[in-house]
Amino acid sequence: MKLTIGSDHGAVELKETVKAVLAEYPDIEVNDVGTFGTTSVDYPDIAEKVCAEITSGRSEWGIVLCGTGIGISIAANKIKGIRCALCNDVFSAKKSREHNNANVLAMGGRVLGFGPAEEIVRAWIETPFSNDERHNRRIGKITALENR
Ligand code: RB5
Repeated sequence: MKLTIGSDHGAVELKETVKAVLAEYPDIEVNDVGTFGTTSVDYPDIAEKVCAEITSGRSEWGIVLCGTGIGISIAANKIKGIRCALCNDVFSAKKSREHNNANVLAMGGRVLGFGPAEEIVRAWIETPFSNDERHNRRIGKITALENR
């Protein structure tokens, strides 16, 4: 399974921490689209790069990071087919997979400590979508909103 990750300058350290967690999963192949330094970049550009990998089918999942996680999650959710969940706790991370079938996880490098971020990533990766009628119906309604 392929996962694309990207961050702006506000979360480059968190990106490395997250990649170390992802390395625990032999089935996950990580594609890192940057940024790779502390030079300021615009988070919508990173969201676009990560999400293009998902909407093209080249990656199944994405992780997007910025200072707060807010800007990059807003940008990602403008892209058709993306269900990006900003998660700063394990409970939300689990529910975003179980209920919302989130295909992108967002976190804030200036919000989360590395320990909590590691737990959030593990929870997000390991929680399957419930795939029940109720949640599929609601996700279908999200897709209908996108298509209006
Ligand atoms: C960049 O300074 C900062 O605005 C960005 O990382 C993020 O927090 C935006 O939502």
